[in-house]
Amino acid sequence: MFLQIGKEDSWLVAAGGTPVPPLLCVAMPTARLFHVSDLHFGREDPAALDWFAGLVRNERPDAVVITGDFTFRATKPEFAAAIAYLERLDVPLSLEPGNHDLPYYNDPLRRLFRPYRRFAKFEGRIEQPLTLSAAAIVPLKTVSRFQWRVNQSLGVVRPASLAAAMERIAAAPKNCAPIVACHHPLADIPDMAEPQHTRGGKAALAALAAAGAKAVLTGHIHDPFDRMWETAAGPIRLIGAGTLSERLRSSRPSFNEISVEEGRIENRVRTLT
Ligand SMILES: [Fe+2]
Ligand SMILES: [Fe+2]
Repeated sequence: MFLQIGKEDSWLVAAGGTPVPPLLCVAMPTARLFHVSDLHFGREDPAALDWFAGLVRNERPDAVVITGDFTFRATKPEFAAAIAYLERLDVPLSLEPGNHDLPYYNDPLRRLFRPYRRFAKFEGRIEQPLTLSAAAIVPLKTVSRFQWRVNQSLGVVRPASLAAAMERIAAAPKNCAPIVACHHPLADIPDMAEPQHTRGGKAALAALAAAGAKAVLTGHIHDPFDRMWETAAGPIRLIGAGTLSERLRSSRPSFNEISVEEGRIENRVRTLT
């Protein structure tokens, strides 16, 4: 995108009444992301997936950020279908796992020791940073193989995961806005479905904001939102994506189109009508 110095309605007028055109156009780095979540292959919505893939093909975002729950039951066929779909998108991907992507509880050894094996060729690309011209996508792990509470689907930010994210934020190029991507919302969103109880989430938000993160992209609750969260170090933006699955809650299938330019973030929810 180009920044035009001097808009037409504010051109200078030279002596004699001749407008003086803009002197300079400066190329500004921008990044345009499609943020999508909760595809839930196994309970996917084919029409929503086709709609999204068509927009990616036609509009060519700089990257697609997927904040987890690729599958419904983390089965081989579900992963095979998810991987085939993602490969067809043919754009850079940022891949964060969701609670539905871990091996189920009847497969405890694989859940504990090789949880991402069924991502197959994408296994080594899970939770990896992605640097674009104007944004650095920083993964933050919130899924857990085991935690001391009944509901294992809830999120947790462990110190090691937060430290890894902080290191990556510190290493991001100075002209890139650090944007964190994870599955679970790190704070309960007022007026949204149900409390998320992400352990360590609020402390993580304070630390991430202090480190310079501009936003946190999440999924899990299947409805889009866009809120500011205040911390002692300043605000940080919380952006949630809807779902492209049949598991709709209060909104239609959707994704977020996010533009980043000079640290400014614009978000537009795009909904399948
Ligand atoms: Fe989900
Ligand atoms: Fe989830």
